Amino acid sequence: MKDIVETFIKERQLTREEYVELLGCWNDPSAAERLAAEAVKIRKQYYGTKVYTRGLIEFTNYCKNNCYYCGIRHGNHNAKRYRLTKEEILECCVSGYELGFRTFVLQGGEDPYYTDDRMADIVRSIKDRYPNCAVTLSLGERSYESYKRLREAGADRYLLRHETANEEHYGRLHPAEMSLKTRKECLYFLKELGYQVGAGFMVGSPGQRLRDLAEDLVFLKELEPQMVGIGPFIPHHDTKFASEPAGSVELTLYLLSIIRILLPKVLLPATTALGTMDPKGREKGLAVGANVVMPNLSPVKNRKQYDLYDNKICTGEEAAECRGCLARRVESVGYQLVNERGDAVS
Ligand code: SAM
Ligand code: FES
Repeated sequence: MKDIVETFIKERQLTREEYVELLGCWNDPSAAERLAAEAVKIRKQYYGTKVYTRGLIEFTNYCKNNCYYCGIRHGNHNAKRYRLTKEEILECCVSGYELGFRTFVLQGGEDPYYTDDRMADIVRSIKDRYPNCAVTLSLGERSYESYKRLREAGADRYLLRHETANEEHYGRLHPAEMSLKTRKECLYFLKELGYQVGAGFMVGSPGQRLRDLAEDLVFLKELEPQMVGIGPFIPHHDTKFASEPAGSVELTLYLLSIIRILLPKVLLPATTALGTMDPKGREKGLAVGANVVMPNLSPVKNRKQYDLYDNKICTGEEAAECRGCLARRVESVGYQLVNERGDAVS
């Protein structure tokens, strides 16, 4: 066993250089097992065997941005675009509530159609109908004022992956008009406004080095988000990264354990991207420290259109099937899906 693994387990934090060393052990099975055992111990201490579930409503695939890796980026003219009406979104919530969801995640591209007025109205309508449910937004970068209005309308949480904490690497993944500085600023705005905040990144995105991942870990510790979303990068055929290799499942699992140890109370999803890369990916994620799953509540007619990467799973199933399937998967690794809001423990 490498000393660095034991040092990290003891200190729960390392320097950037030390993280590079820790990450360098990712394909050493004894290091991965030791970290996973510690991560599971911590996860059980705070969350027992509960797995929280979020109903994901992908409500628009219009996007004004051009992130190079993403299938729904503005420049992809092959993407067939859709938007859900407020009524369609509320219908997703009706069926989701019946199925036991107590958190709704509204996720979409950066779509200017959803002005602050429209978005605030949608959030308010959900919170009026379901006051015991949490609303999570994932709408990308907006102004402080916009985040403030949506928070006042009742939004509880916000997911905005930082994607990479290294400036140069950020520039490889995004066009010049996007900046890591703005992204980080948004995350700090959200924190200041009292949102439960989620950051995160793709594992194995083009050009990513272990020292970029080390910077991600340093940044996560500094931001202390309540949620962290990570999943393997998966190429999309209509992007300039179409022939790049996908990210590694094993490295993603290794990072999930590290993040659980780094931020013990974090809400950590076993993501759809992980399930896409490996048929048992989500179960494996839960078995190394993850405690959240996010099944799809979007209308089946639009599922395939929210096409971020190739071969995305769960695009043909009804919401009930997806929830049932996940409940069985969660139980198969010794955990239970619960019908709770699932806030981070304080
Ligand atoms: N527009 C919002 C935002 O930017 O935060 C939410 C939607 S965005 C499509 C959600 C996440 O999908 C991104 O943060 C990114 O990490 C992930 N994603 C996009 N393309 C991907 C790909 N090719 N492989 C894996 N994940 C991808
Ligand atoms: Fe969607 Fe299994 S989680 S079908």
